[in-house]
Amino acid sequence: MKNILAQMTVLSLLFTTSTALPAAGPEVAAGQLQTISGFESEFVPARDIFVWLPEDYSEDRRYAVLYMHDGDSLWDAATTWNGQEWGVDEVVSDLLEKGAIRNVIVVGIPNAGAERGIEYLPQKPFEAMAPEDRQALYEIEHPEFGRIYSGPIRSDAYLRFLVDELKPHIDRKFPTLPDRDNTFVMGSSMGGLISIYAISEYPDVFGGAGCLSTRWPGSLYPADSPFPALMREYLKEHLPGAEGHYLWFDYGSEGLDAEYADYQAQVDHIVRNAGYGNDRWITYHDAGADHNEDAWRARLHHPLKFLLAPRPSAPTVLATVASPDSRNEFSLAIDGAGVPRYSVRRGEEVVVADSRLGLRFAEQAELGAGFRFTAVERRAHDETWEQPWGERRLVRDHHNELLLRFEDDAGRRFDLRARAFDDGIGFRYEVPEQPGFETVNIVDELTEFSLPEGSTAWWIPGRRYNRYEYLYHTTGLEAIETAHTPLTLRTPTGTHVSIHEAALTDYAAFVLDQRRDRVFQTNLTPWSDGIRVKTGAPFKTPWRTIQLADDAMGLVNSSLILNLNEPNVLGDVSWVEPGKYVGIWWAMHIRKRTWGSGPIHGATTEETKRYMDFAAKYGFDGVLVEGWNVGWDGDWFHNGDLFRFAEPYPDFDIRAIGEYGRRKGVRLIGHHETSGNVTNYAQQMEAALDLYESVGVRQVKTGYVADGGDIKRVDENGLVHYEWHDGQFTIGEYLSSVTEAAKRRISINTHEPVKDTGLRRTYPNWLSREGARGQEFNAWGVPPNPPEHTAILPYTRMLSGPMDFTPGIFDLTPFGMGSQHRVQTTLAKQLALYVTIYSPVQMAADLPENYEARPDALQFIVDVPADWEESIAVAGEVGDFIVFARQERGGPDWYLGAVTDEERREIEVPLDFLEEGRRYTAQIYRDGYHAHWRTNPYAFEVEQHEVGHDDVLKLRLAPGGGAAIRFEADSR
Ligand code: NOJ
Ligand code: CA
Repeated sequence: MKNILAQMTVLSLLFTTSTALPAAGPEVAAGQLQTISGFESEFVPARDIFVWLPEDYSEDRRYAVLYMHDGDSLWDAATTWNGQEWGVDEVVSDLLEKGAIRNVIVVGIPNAGAERGIEYLPQKPFEAMAPEDRQALYEIEHPEFGRIYSGPIRSDAYLRFLVDELKPHIDRKFPTLPDRDNTFVMGSSMGGLISIYAISEYPDVFGGAGCLSTRWPGSLYPADSPFPALMREYLKEHLPGAEGHYLWFDYGSEGLDAEYADYQAQVDHIVRNAGYGNDRWITYHDAGADHNEDAWRARLHHPLKFLLAPRPSAPTVLATVASPDSRNEFSLAIDGAGVPRYSVRRGEEVVVADSRLGLRFAEQAELGAGFRFTAVERRAHDETWEQPWGERRLVRDHHNELLLRFEDDAGRRFDLRARAFDDGIGFRYEVPEQPGFETVNIVDELTEFSLPEGSTAWWIPGRRYNRYEYLYHTTGLEAIETAHTPLTLRTPTGTHVSIHEAALTDYAAFVLDQRRDRVFQTNLTPWSDGIRVKTGAPFKTPWRTIQLADDAMGLVNSSLILNLNEPNVLGDVSWVEPGKYVGIWWAMHIRKRTWGSGPIHGATTEETKRYMDFAAKYGFDGVLVEGWNVGWDGDWFHNGDLFRFAEPYPDFDIRAIGEYGRRKGVRLIGHHETSGNVTNYAQQMEAALDLYESVGVRQVKTGYVADGGDIKRVDENGLVHYEWHDGQFTIGEYLSSVTEAAKRRISINTHEPVKDTGLRRTYPNWLSREGARGQEFNAWGVPPNPPEHTAILPYTRMLSGPMDFTPGIFDLTPFGMGSQHRVQTTLAKQLALYVTIYSPVQMAADLPENYEARPDALQFIVDVPADWEESIAVAGEVGDFIVFARQERGGPDWYLGAVTDEERREIEVPLDFLEEGRRYTAQIYRDGYHAHWRTNPYAFEVEQHEVGHDDVLKLRLAPGGGAAIRFEADSR
């Protein structure tokens, strides 16, 4: 008992009874103190709760929360039992002002007066004591205040009140960051003891504990009390791991603190063994300091700075949506600065790590940071829809949707809609109509994609002079500065990812801009005046898309982009005709003919009739003619102003040709080259399309040959501006060419286009486009397309939609074997491209005489359809090879195309896509045994086998080679 008597002199410090409080509540020197009077609890007696809010408190921000015990003693010395205070309001304000700590709210929880001890003594170690020891503890009496432990120990109940009642209430009423990383608990003496107990009992709730002058022995103890040792045993078992937790301990040297050094050293040992290093744990000896509020106040800035350091904390996840197969998940979070962020995972793998969201405007304040997340709506969707034409007839749209509504104090609103499919994620911003948003100039979109370290990327550079016509790079992410989308990558685990966008209308395209290591921002293409998008609410951004698959084929088989586009708005589109065509085209590229008038003018009536005869003989649907209208003479590349779209050269009788084609069952395919002067084109477009309609044209190829940034726009005042192909202005021009054409039942095939984003679903007369290096580069490109180019396209450019690549060159060396301008494929590979590169309009690009010289190979082009019931990528690796199987639409036959890069390859293809029980004649067009694109490109064989569903076909592809197969079904 001697020990106990010795403690009596300082005992009064252990009691901070609320009965001692004067009637008036505490006043704070800085910030504001709100009192929640008589907060009721199921677990402990009701009490007032103090909530301290900082000076510049705002509902627009998000705050960490510090829960402090002995909540009466924190604020105002004039109201405390001993005339001292922690000075929490002063110290926290000062640190906030200096930016030394993150935004924080302090919740003071007054103690239970005479019952303080029974709420603060950790219950589990107490209950580990022998019954007689527990009894002894209960019997300890203070001469003045009576029993120290005046009833059954209820610290577990106290913590439940704190965690299950008070914290949820605070998180509801105040703009808190409710996650562990932003929730702290602190106290001194017995309050230190209950703080370390709190973080040990609730390691998922509390991310840090501040334990000042911790009373390790418990209040008033006999010298031989087993409690301290049992408390240490408890900590050995229950102290949470260092990950995600911060611990602060300290002690002085005077008063009660004089005895603590030894106890603390033993606890430190346990903490160290639990894996805490200096970054996560501090034990601080405040030499000379006593055991009272003045001392704690004097050093309070230390634990606050340590625990509340403005370190980037993991954002708080607010909502998630998973794909129907639950493998892909989109999560929305708010970070410590109040910025909305998202992440995407596939299974266990984080594919897009914590990435920023937001929109910035010229006039209005940003949409994003500081907004409150106010509501969430969920929806599931499963529908199978039919394409009028396409790579597959039926498309299943099966997804789960999350609509998140955001609002700020001024009542400004925006929504974020996210859809999770089994083949990836799409999300977009939706800004509803609201005051102040009638006119909106977007100056930046803050959407980021934080991509996995160690990934391999296939990409072309963004916002360069040659638009999308670059060779693909295969590199790590770090080599990218800006990249166009689709950007394809393979993560270190083998997951295949493609970042792109869907439904790009009345907005600017983005290029991916690597802002920090592996963090790519949507860099929107600006107008010539610097604004990125000119709009007004309501508006929606295009979908930002992340396609996900376990392998390369999975990406190719995805329909995500189409599913994120709106259904057909054109009504009956039975007049849209997929098909195959030939044209007066390659002859100009290999300089046998000219676009301009003169002795070798290509577009003459006579030459067109020759092509029409050829087309009719072999069943081609159309003949494209380029260079028939006035404007091609001279430097057509730079003279867009001179084009006259309804004025033929004298040697081209457009009406006679239309009539000739009608008789032969072959349509003239129109051509409109603008050379980038879109205003000149827009002014003539209606008359030009009327002319085409009148001569039976059903399809027009358009061209926008101009360097990136050189699209000429003449405004209403006659002033000239230069725009990008993928800026909002030109995107509108492309679409208006499509809708104007639709009025005349004409379809469009755009060259030098904006990237495809799946708009063919909404506007089915937008048949195809270029938008990558096509065959033409083999005529004059430096360098021409290397063999791997067509083994990359299906996994990159083709994910966006059909491409008018114009395959089928039979004279692979028009300038001789020795020229660098030659086609770097075998003959068989040219045939395979009809299957591996999808387009509903496929050109047979070579000259009629070159086809008639190779009837064996021509037969495949004659047979192969351009419209499909189903398409399946059956084997492949990005940049190496691809094997596609497609079933014709409206018939039982299947076709297969296989292409390889510069490597020779043997591939075994199971034919399980064929109908079971049915026999097929496989007509195989393949590389000859010694074929090689460079030395022996014409070595070529055609053979036939009978095959069925259970067979496996072995394909041998030569370097730069390929194989094309028609599986002709037996008749039944
Ligand atoms: C570029 C197109 O891609 C090509 O197909 C066309 O022949 C020329 N422009 C001329 O319009
Ligand atoms: Ca081109």
